[in-house]
Amino acid sequence: MKGFDSNKTTEFKKVESTTPPSTKNGAIDMFVCRLYKYHIENWEEEKKEILEALPAENLIKEYEEDIHTDYFENSRSRRLPRYADLIVDIVSPCIEDLQSRLPGGGNNKLLIHQCWMGVDNMWYQTEYKGQKHMLHNHGNVGWSCVLYVNYNPEVHTATRFLSPYGVGSGRGGGLDWYQPDIKEGDFIIFDSSIAHEALPNESDEKRTIISMNFQTSPMIPQKQYQTK
Ligand SMILES: [Fe+2]
Repeated sequence: MKGFDSNKTTEFKKVESTTPPSTKNGAIDMFVCRLYKYHIENWEEEKKEILEALPAENLIKEYEEDIHTDYFENSRSRRLPRYADLIVDIVSPCIEDLQSRLPGGGNNKLLIHQCWMGVDNMWYQTEYKGQKHMLHNHGNVGWSCVLYVNYNPEVHTATRFLSPYGVGSGRGGGLDWYQPDIKEGDFIIFDSSIAHEALPNESDEKRTIISMNFQTSPMIPQKQYQTK
């Protein structure tokens, strides 16, 4: 496994730019729901390493899901998978860039814990034809991420996000959705509380992603409880 190397040559490209809230003509965007999107530049090389590191596919049929994942075997025992170090190493430049761009507010007072981020969870997910991952969120952990490992934009659909905000009048019961343009090797970071889903894979090509969560508050476990 790789260790963290601040001089690592993995390159990434900023796709989204930071824009201040619009205040045009008295219409004020009070809150911003930002998605950060990167691309791992030497992707083919990194993909080879990732695929070699991933475990054998494991079909799971729980909670109305029907997908291949190692989520349950690691999460239930609060363990990170063996490939976690490799992935963290690959996406580290993206995380560092995110931290440099987080809006801190006046005197950076909004970033109470500065830019502390700790990997909380990581798993892979593979969907074959007809398989999907229903609408869900990752709780109020902090940041969630998706790395698109096997992904063909010609036949696959990207993660679809549900707006956490109301859409106002005139839309009936319509909901606001957002789907970023994604290609293989892209890495996205978003607020863990935002609902999202993987639409059914309608192709004969499998779709594989690696997802992870980052906590944003260092834990001080003075006492811990297990409910069951
Ligand atoms: Fe998710």
